[in-house]
Amino acid sequence: MTRSLLLASLLAATALATSSAHAAGDKEAGRLKTYTCHGCHGVPGYKNAYPNYHVPRIAGQHYEYLVAALKAYQTGDRDHPTMRAQGESLSAQDIEDIAAYLAGLAP
Ligand code: HEC
Repeated sequence: MTRSLLLASLLAATALATSSAHAAGDKEAGRLKTYTCHGCHGVPGYKNAYPNYHVPRIAGQHYEYLVAALKAYQTGDRDHPTMRAQGESLSAQDIEDIAAYLAGLAP
């Protein structure tokens, strides 16, 4: 009994691990992870509140574009101090989740 329960939970864990490995990113996780991004990217008119500067629209961008942009900030290929600081705190999984969430939004 204990053995088969153990086997069943092992199988379930494997199934979970496999399915998340194939997913391109988890939208729900991405929604939570973009919480801090809205302070700059979610404002009406796409201007940061203070200091007042233009911020690009990221909602509804292509998934691949978002992943590439975030990785470029992370590695320093795209040099912008603010976004570099954002990118440095993200894992590869965070980037995929965030891109999946943002790509699914209406532009
Ligand atoms: C403090 C303000 C601020 C915060 C917070 C912020 N961003 Fe940005 N973001 C910017 C600015 C300014 C740019 C434009 C940088 C440039 O010119 O390269 C930018 C650029 C981007 C771009 C590239 C857009 C394009 O059109 O090429 C992406 C993608 C992005 N941010 C995603 C995020 C994500 C995801 C988060 C949260 C983890 C985040 N940003 C948090 C200010 C911010």
